Amino acid sequence: MQRGPIIDGLPAWTVELQLKKFRDHIRGSNPANKSELLMGAGESILQDDEEIRRVAEHIASLPPQAHLLTVRGDKNRGKLIYLQCANCHGFKGEGKLESKSPPLNTLEDWFQLDQLRKFKSGLRGKHPQDAEGNAMRLAVQGLSDDDLKNVTRYIAEDLAKPKPLPKREPGAKK
Ligand code: HEC
Repeated sequence: MQRGPIIDGLPAWTVELQLKKFRDHIRGSNPANKSELLMGAGESILQDDEEIRRVAEHIASLPPQAHLLTVRGDKNRGKLIYLQCANCHGFKGEGKLESKSPPLNTLEDWFQLDQLRKFKSGLRGKHPQDAEGNAMRLAVQGLSDDDLKNVTRYIAEDLAKPKPLPKREPGAKK
């Protein structure tokens, strides 16, 4: 079974927004998106706005962790692609509350690539009430799978805070 992403240090607003999407079945109710379905089921216990806010604040208070680089890609090509992302996610991948674009600089690379592929194929971001997800889905439509790997590699290697751990995991994605 796929493990969940490490979310330590994500700002409370992004965690809160996503938890509410899971609660309101805007995410997590598409059976084709298996990992989200799991999260949707687990989330059913968090119903209350106040409880969601407290959990989000707790996650935001945890220091972000350094991750291993597991996605192979060309970070120099990825840097050029990232110019298309920076408007929304910020030049350092720090995220922007104005456009509800989450930070990317604290996320694990395998999770980012997985999400990018899901946005591209419409497994994420297609719900009619998911305005942010739809904006993001449209943003990756013109990109190839290599583009997605390259941009992920650039974010994970050059923008990540803290800096990535030096060793690659055995069985890394090619
Ligand atoms: C039009 C603004 C916009 C552009 C351009 C854009 N994004 Fe996003 N992105 C968003 C928003 C908004 C979300 C949050 C979606 C949601 O609420 O589910 C998001 C979500 C994501 C996520 C999921 C993060 C998570 O925690 O689940 C990743 C990864 C991501 N974007 C990467 C990128 C990359 C890489 C690019 C460039 C190729 C890009 N985005 C371009 C707005 C944008």
